[in-house]
Parts: sequence; C-alpha cells; structure tokens
Amino acid sequence: MDKSVGKPLDRVDGRLKVTGAAKYAAEFPQEQLAHAVLVTSTIANGTISRMDTAAAEKAPGVLAVLSPEKPPKLGGDPTQKQSPVDRVVHVLQTKRVDYQHQPVAVVVADTLERATHAAALVKVQYKASKPKANFKAEKAQAYKPTAILGRPADHAQGKASDEKPGAEVDATYVTPYEHHNPMEPHATTAFWEGDLLTVYDATQGVFGTRSRLAALLGIPVENVRVITKFVGGGFGGKGSVWAHTALAAMAAKAVSRPVKLVLRRDQMFGPVGYRPETEQHVQLRARKDGKLLLIRHETTSSTSTFDEFAEPSSMQTRMLYASEQIITSHRLVRLTMGTPTFTRAPGESTGTFALESAMDELAYKLNLDPVALRLQNHADQDPESGRPWSSKSLKECYRVGAEKFGWAKRNPTPGSMKDGRTLIGWGMASATYPARQMKASAKASLLPDGTVQVDSGSQDLGTGTYTVMTQIAADALGLAPEKVRFDLGDTQMPETPVSGGSWTASSVGSAVKAVSLALRDKAIALAVGDAASPLHGLDAKQVQVDGGALVAGGKRDSYTALLKRQKLPSLEAQASSGPGPESGKYSMHSFGAQFAEVRVDPDLGEIRVSRWTGAFGGGRILNEKTARSQMMGGIIMGIGMALMEESVVDTRTGRFITHDLADYHVPVNPDVPDIDIAFIPEDDPYVNPIGVKGIGEIGITGAAAAIANAVYHATGKRIRSLPLTLDKLL
Ligand code: MOS
Repeated sequence: MDKSVGKPLDRVDGRLKVTGAAKYAAEFPQEQLAHAVLVTSTIANGTISRMDTAAAEKAPGVLAVLSPEKPPKLGGDPTQKQSPVDRVVHVLQTKRVDYQHQPVAVVVADTLERATHAAALVKVQYKASKPKANFKAEKAQAYKPTAILGRPADHAQGKASDEKPGAEVDATYVTPYEHHNPMEPHATTAFWEGDLLTVYDATQGVFGTRSRLAALLGIPVENVRVITKFVGGGFGGKGSVWAHTALAAMAAKAVSRPVKLVLRRDQMFGPVGYRPETEQHVQLRARKDGKLLLIRHETTSSTSTFDEFAEPSSMQTRMLYASEQIITSHRLVRLTMGTPTFTRAPGESTGTFALESAMDELAYKLNLDPVALRLQNHADQDPESGRPWSSKSLKECYRVGAEKFGWAKRNPTPGSMKDGRTLIGWGMASATYPARQMKASAKASLLPDGTVQVDSGSQDLGTGTYTVMTQIAADALGLAPEKVRFDLGDTQMPETPVSGGSWTASSVGSAVKAVSLALRDKAIALAVGDAASPLHGLDAKQVQVDGGALVAGGKRDSYTALLKRQKLPSLEAQASSGPGPESGKYSMHSFGAQFAEVRVDPDLGEIRVSRWTGAFGGGRILNEKTARSQMMGGIIMGIGMALMEESVVDTRTGRFITHDLADYHVPVNPDVPDIDIAFIPEDDPYVNPIGVKGIGEIGITGAAAAIANAVYHATGKRIRSLPLTLDKLL
C-alpha cells in the first residue's frame, strides 16, 4: 500500500541544500589541490600558427601549461564517437580550430587567481579562415541526416483527399540559439591514485562520463570512478561529456596533483553544447469543421562541421494529432561552431512552438475555438505507429485546464480584452513528451537497526531523485521514509542511465521498487522458515510489510528481531528493471494543456505573463510537491524561451556575443506569475512497474506557443520568431 508515494513529502536533501552542506562537483576539498583554467580560441575556423606559453610557464605558482604545441599524451581517440551522440572533443591534440572558444591551452597553478593570471599570458597566433556562422545564409546547403537518434529524419504517412480545404496555414517559424545556463557551471575535480582516476563531475550521467573518459584516456572503465552527489541544474547540457572533463583528468596526470577545473560563465557559451537555431516550415490544411487533411512540418537546424546533432522539432508532429496526411522532415546546416546538444525537451519544446502556433492560426482562420480545434483532431491512437496509447488524458487535460483557467470567458477577438489600457491575451497549446524507460539497477541492505540503505548510481539534477526513490523504497518495504536512506551519484553503485529524456524517475524508480520488493521477499522467506518467528510456517504470499515489520493475520515479526535471531549483520538484495514487452505494443507519452494569460502594454509592447494553468497527464505522480515544482520549472523555462532567451552570434566571427547573464536573459521572480498545476490521475499499467511517465521535460513543451498565441489574442500580431521581444511587437 502506498503510504508515502504520491504524498508531498519535503525533499529529504532539503536541509543539506539550504544549509550549503550539499556538495557539488567543485566543492570536494583535496589536499594539494591545483586549479586549471582553460584558454579558448578567438577564431572559429583555422589553425594555430604560433603559441607562446613561456611567460605563462614562468608566472608565479604555475605548475603546467598544456597545449597542442606538445600535445598531452592520450591513450584513446578523441574523434571516436560513442553511442548515441558522444561528441568529438577538443583536447589539445590538434592545431586545427573548428569553433570559437575551442580549448587551446590549459594552465594549471596552485591557486585559481594565479592560473587565471597565467592563462592571460598565453599568446596564440592563428591562421584564420572565414567562418561559416550565418545559419540563414548557409541554409541552401542543408543536407538530410541519415538518422536522428536512431529514427528516420523524414517520415510520411497517409494521403490527403484532394478536396478544397476550409482553411490553410503555411508559415515559417524561427527559434534562436539558446544556452543552458544552470546555476552550477560545468565543473570537474579530478585526481589520480596510481592508475586509478577519480572524478567529481557536474554531470547528468556518471556512467556515461566514466565510459567516455575511459575511452578517451585509453584506460579500463574499472579504473575510473565518477561521483556526482548534487547537480546544480542540468537541462541537457550536462548529459554529454565535453572537453573540460577530460582536460581536468589530463591536467591532474600532468601535475601529479588533484586538479579542479570550473568553466567561467562566458565559457558556458563556449566549448559545451547549446540549442541550435531552427527554422520550421509548417503547413496545415483542414476542412471547415477543423478536421485536418494535411500536416507538414519541415525543420532545419544547425550543427557543427565535425559532429551531427539535429534538433528533432518535427518528431512530435508525427504523433500529436490525427490527420489524413502527415509529412515531417529534418535537415541540417553545417556551421563552424561548437556542436549543439540536448536542451530542455530538445525537439518538443521548439517543435511545439511552431506546430501549436500554426494550430492557433488555423483556429482563427476557421473561426473555431483553439481547444475545440484540438479536440476535433484528437489522435485516438498513435498516428505514426498505429499503436494504442498506454494511457492518454489529453482530453481531460484540456477540460480541467480550461475550467481552472476560466477559458470559457474568453472573447476570441484579438485586442478585445483589456484592463484599462493594458491588453489582455489568453492563449493555449498542447504539451507532449515521450514516456521512456531505460535499464537501471539498484541494491538494498536491511540493517540491524531496522533501517534500509538503497543505492543506485543515478543523479539528482535538483528535481527530487533522492526524495522520490526514498518514498518508493519506503512503501515497498513497509517503512516510514525516515527509515530509508537512498544514495546515488557514484559509479561504484549499480548502473543507471544518464538523467535525460525525462526517464530517471521511471527507470531508477522501477529498479528501486524491484530491489525493495526483492529485499522484502528475502526477509519474508527467512521469517516463514524461522522456527522462532511468529510467522513460521505461513505461506510467504500471505505476509505483508507494515511499520518496519512483516505482518500476517495479526502476527508480526519486526525487521530488527528477524536480523537479530538470524544473527545477520545485514540482508542484501540487488535488482534491475528495464523496458518490458509492453514497450513495443503501446505508444507511451505524457500529454498536457497549457493556458497562459499575458498583459501587453499597448505603447511599449512590453509583455508580462500574468497567469498560468497547466494540466498534465504524466502517469503516476511520485511526490506532489517535487512534481509541482518540476512542472513550474519547465513552464518558467518556457517563459524564458518565449520572451527572453536568445544567444546572438556575430556571424562575422562565429562568436556568441551574448555570453553572460546580463546579456542572456532568463526569467527571474517578477517575470513569473502564480502557476497553477493540475495533474490528471493516470493509472498506466503498461509504461513500467511504477506507472511513472516522467515529467522532466513536458512542462516546457507548448509553453512558448501558449504565450505567442496569447500575445496574438492580445494584440492581433502573430510573431513567428522567438523570443517575442518588443521590437517585434511594435
Ligand atoms: Mo534532457 S534535454 O533530455 O537532459
């Protein structure tokens, strides 16, 4: 019985966080710690013709200067890629420069200040070629990638009848480069003990970091230990291994001391990934009653010259609505820039901006309510695969969201709703994200004091992994959450996937449930076989767990008594969980509906988001409080995406000129209204053993479109390029 799962339990790590006791990758003190500072390229395309490191080497406190002048030895091949998209990393092996801010030297000194000073003394001369950094100009050279994360770049299904449509939308939407900007920058502390490397890394995936480091350095994975106890925000950027992590390990080797390397905020716009620019062409044709005849969604995004990363913005269009015909494609443009990467619902966030803006345009053309238009095209099964949904509450999301928001009171005429002179706009959009599960493992130990220790590699990106895993184990073992200690973030623990794709709760949670049940069953088997147990001789199936004891028919045997009688120092179990056979039979997705209110100043064009309701069907909600926070986080990122976030490239140099938080704007408290979140209860027996769909990313999906649609409703101006800044409105 669930006593803890679902409840709004406070974060078990809350006190550690607010007292500063939670330690992040850069906060593990080491004796003799040295500090590394990256020197990065100031051109986007060319070669290093001359490097002068003499002054830096002579500067006070400097222990080493690593550079391609004398490439540090590497056992592995940095150009070798690892599945699915581990990148070429630039670790000083070549004088070739492929992008701005490529690492060209690492300076190690006894203090950060001395390393920073010496880094400024490194002189680099280049033979520069013209950068290719203008996405729009290079678009004619776009090519079709062979596959996008194992899925075809192009897809087409059905055939539209050739009747004359009641309305048609044919429009192009643009989303800009965006950067991750978590509060905690990328950071690594690395040290060697003989051949053994230990790395504290700000990563979303300790195991991926371990295998990539081992491959790069040419050492066995067993020789690498990666630890990540807390992550100060990931957003996809920490899902891959970038150059600095390997460089920290290489620097530690070179100086035979522990080395810490933290990216400066401007370097967060440098040798780590970002969201690529997209241009999306959407064409919709519908009958008068709103029934879609055709959806076409063509995405072009940018990638680097040496890696392939596609923003998969057309993917959700294959499954979100029923239509007679659906045509989707992805194209890529190679630029002399760093490789883009997974960024906060890659594809679905940018893709729903285009698709859901187009749906709003279609609703206006047809004179239909935007919710009614979406209901009219509700997909009763997955249009792409033809499979039934494992569960789907989208209709309920529209209904509950609309009701809580007060949508029925909306006058659809643009510019018709006002508060004094302020224009009011109400907009909505659908939200969607795949529900995935990856193989994960966990181990559990029942201890003599009746507490249980559960360990599973994994990561907590600030989203609540520690807390929800504690709840799952507590319920499965019949314990109060205080009696369970869950630990994570270490490759010495059982293996888990990267925390990306919104699958940590579903994957690790299923493993934690499996191991807890395995431990429970071991305890039950011991008790029923123990002549001294009150439960002796009972059928194991009759025994339940509750209050730290095994119970059956009014008899109880506590965990502590059982271990004591059995003279066991502990009782252990290990288990794994992975996608079951159901995963091929059903289409598994979360769905939601976003409702936004904006207030627009008619003279200044200033847009404020003033009210929000989001209703979501995300399967089992493990913790009402952390889940609500997570949804709010996603929606707030959606507000950033809609109104402010934009990385601007100087196309002459290929350099991002917005490279700090003064120029790159993210929402702060006054930008965020009260956000009303509703979860539609779902009991999905197919997604995984705990019924969890994962809510890491769905919050941002549909959010930017809901705001753009609200801005249209307020002003009558349709802005098809993000962010919706006032210059575009006036
Ligand atoms: Mo998320 S962008 O899959 O880390």
